[in-house]
Amino acid sequence: MAEYYIGLMSGTSMDGIDVALVDLQNPQPALVCARTLAWPENLQQQLTQIVDHPSSVSLQALGQLDAATGEAFAAAANAMIQESGIAAKAIRAIGSHGQTLFHAPDNTPSFTTQCGDPNRIAEITGITTVADFRRRDIAAGGQGAPLVPAFHQAVFSAPGQARAIVNIGGMANLTLLPGDETPVIGFDSGPGNVLMDSWCRKHTNQPYDKNGDWAAQGTCQPALLDCLLEHPFLKQAPPKSTGREMFHPGWLDEQLDRLPEKPEAVDVQRTLLEFTATTICEALETHAGNTGQLLVCGGGAHNTRLMQNLSVRLDGIETTSTEAFGIHPDWVEAVAFAWLAQQTLQGKPGNLPAVTGASHPVVLGAIYPG
Ligand SMILES: Nc1ncnc2c1ncn2[C@@H]1O[C@H](COP(=O)(O)OP(=O)(O)OP(=O)(O)O)[C@@H](O)[C@H]1O
Ligand SMILES: [Mg+2]
Repeated sequence: MAEYYIGLMSGTSMDGIDVALVDLQNPQPALVCARTLAWPENLQQQLTQIVDHPSSVSLQALGQLDAATGEAFAAAANAMIQESGIAAKAIRAIGSHGQTLFHAPDNTPSFTTQCGDPNRIAEITGITTVADFRRRDIAAGGQGAPLVPAFHQAVFSAPGQARAIVNIGGMANLTLLPGDETPVIGFDSGPGNVLMDSWCRKHTNQPYDKNGDWAAQGTCQPALLDCLLEHPFLKQAPPKSTGREMFHPGWLDEQLDRLPEKPEAVDVQRTLLEFTATTICEALETHAGNTGQLLVCGGGAHNTRLMQNLSVRLDGIETTSTEAFGIHPDWVEAVAFAWLAQQTLQGKPGNLPAVTGASHPVVLGAIYPG
């Protein structure tokens, strides 16, 4: 019998709300339908404002934003249910990641903050909602991220095959599946699209560099690339996770100010693409030199230039989209949060302590009954 779940995801790019309706009755998830729904425009602006300028926001504004974001998530889930033709009561649960506002796993005390009130999602949809996945892992001494490696292991691992999964969203995160009894490794490798997006928005007024076409017209600036590669996060050993708190437009401006001459905007875009590719490849070489296949997901999988760049650098490693392994790259993260909700309802852990650094496996999230 079908086990329908909905996964709701909005990552650091804040490009839209990904909704995936999936049947999880078998170990291999069966996607029923999926869509990215646009954020209400004023809400997207407010979320960007608070993420880019965290200290500019009042408690009242924060409370309103949490409520409005929860309502937007609920509306996205309801739209998906209507489109699917599946009755709401047939859906076991919604797994909602929430919108990350601040991720500080190395603060004392460590914390991570997502908004999008799950009470409202449960109330408006009438469906049991599982949310707040990251904080239990943080409470157990982990980074609270990345949480997708357990899902990657469940759906993409194969005995005897050393595979890596890279999700190129706002940030990029890697999962290394050894294909034997050794533990799965997973961590953020650094920025994915976030710096390319902000630079592109500033100079071309486009939300992102479609297919990497603009970057392709530029030339990599080694002096800038070296400055970017000096970021201490990149040398840090896992477990590690990052976000817009570390890699943001202001940090890029600081690196540009270190150069004797300002490069052309198009050359900066090209260098940012090389930066993302270099950090992914160096992380792979350092931690999984024997990888035979690289499966790519997240919006970055659509960046043709970035994909070509990775394939050329990773000579000898077969680089493909996760689509060849059963899940379209746009929906891996949303399906993962549907799967994590199922884990929670079944009382099973969702974290991998070897990945997050938590002291033990924990059942993630809180349950808001429908
Ligand atoms: N055709 C394309 N060409 C180039 N880049 C693209 C294309 N389509 C999507 N992208 C990039 O993908 C980004 C969105 O990716 P995605 O939704 O995976 O990120 P996210 O929401 O930040 O998720 P997360 O951080 O949780 O992984 C866009 O902001 C853009 O940079
Ligand atoms: Mg997205």
